[in-house]
Amino acid sequence: MIEPEDIVDYATAHSDPEGDYLYRLWRATNIHTVHGHMASGHLQGRLLKMLVMMFRPRTILEVGTFSGYSAICMAEGLSLSPPLPRREGVEPPKCSEGITSPSLRGRAGERPESSSGVRPLITFEINDEMEDFTRKWIEGSDVADLIDFRIGDAVKEAPKLGVMFDMMFLDGDKRTYVETYDALFPLLNKGGIILADNTLWDGHVIDPAYDRDSQTIGIRRFNDLIAHDDRVEKVIVPIRDGLTIIRKK
Ligand SMILES: C[S@@+](CC[C@H](N)C(=O)[O-])C[C@H]1O[C@@H](n2cnc3c(N)ncnc32)[C@H](O)[C@@H]1O
Repeated sequence: MIEPEDIVDYATAHSDPEGDYLYRLWRATNIHTVHGHMASGHLQGRLLKMLVMMFRPRTILEVGTFSGYSAICMAEGLSLSPPLPRREGVEPPKCSEGITSPSLRGRAGERPESSSGVRPLITFEINDEMEDFTRKWIEGSDVADLIDFRIGDAVKEAPKLGVMFDMMFLDGDKRTYVETYDALFPLLNKGGIILADNTLWDGHVIDPAYDRDSQTIGIRRFNDLIAHDDRVEKVIVPIRDGLTIIRKK
């Protein structure tokens, strides 16, 4: 009998290594936090990095930093790929609060230089108990200068930044994915990508035993909303716990 975990192990073994720093972060996350499994981990982390390198966003918003694993993976992608040139009809990021235009320079394969004060990946964590742990790991990483780590509710704080985003990673409270999407969608540039994590919720989305589970209800509401939202193209990738890729038309 082949178990799903065996397939994940096989896929992981045949994908890029996560590297020593992320491995140590993963271990520390699982030793020092109660819900260490929430971190993206090796396989999804490599996928996030790859997607960033493919989409080449100028700006990324993450909802839910937790220990910083996914933020570091996405920043690795940023560090290895220059942003796509601006296309016709696509608004450049608006900037305020000292965030200057996040135009990154550099050739693919080189770490891009950021202009003064620019951090192209802004990541919010609502739980201030994570701050010391996460800040230490983000600041100790090779991509620290690409990450703006903030404590706060992304739904309330991100709209105040005056920044438009090319990519978002939604990985916060599953109960409020719909509200998060509604609040942040206006901040996504046309052609921008939303990655929404956990959208299959360990299969609970199709299991009647979870009909009264609030997180399952939240994810189902979100999946139904996205499925019928004509403003976007979407596909659910059944990696790990489900990752929906959404593109704003
Ligand atoms: C699944 S974990 C994030 C894991 C991380 N993105 C990764 O993949 O390594 C979810 C985190 O989102 C945080 N969170 C929930 N709602 C949030 C919100 N509205 N704004 C910011 N963080 C939020 C939670 O406190 C929790 O730490």
